[in-house]
Amino acid sequence: MWNREPVGGPFALTDHTGQTRTDADFRGQFLLIYFGFTYCPDICPTDLQAMAQAVDQLGPAGELVQPLFISVDPERDTAEQLAQYVPSFHPRLIGLTGDTEAIRQAADAYKVYYAKVPRPGSSEFTIEHTGFVYLVGPDGRYRGFFPPGTSAERLVHVLKQHLPRP
Ligand code: NI
Repeated sequence: MWNREPVGGPFALTDHTGQTRTDADFRGQFLLIYFGFTYCPDICPTDLQAMAQAVDQLGPAGELVQPLFISVDPERDTAEQLAQYVPSFHPRLIGLTGDTEAIRQAADAYKVYYAKVPRPGSSEFTIEHTGFVYLVGPDGRYRGFFPPGTSAERLVHVLKQHLPRP
């Protein structure tokens, strides 16, 4: 039932270069938004790679698509940490982080579940999280989501239905 509720909304976060970014900064662009964390061993890298490949496979139309990675691990994912991480996927991938409150607000807006889970027998922790890719239109409105593990080809197929015809 949750997908009947409004998804998306305002956010104010810090990008991987240390600049404040809000949702309003991205009007006019299609957004592919993914919530995850840089220490995620496999799911996040796989989905981010698919997003990056999709943007490239779209060719010139891909310029209209801005991929965003919003951290759900504000303790470890500093702007500096994100700056090490995002360029390995795509030169235009923007990493966003913030304080616990700001991250929670952004995640709640997108109905993202995440929780800190301690690793047994150590002081380390991991983050359980949902891994949907959200599509937001140039007007800032939510267009839909892709399930975790969606291929680049599938992303391209659906994005082409939303992007203006060349
Ligand atoms: Ni992950």
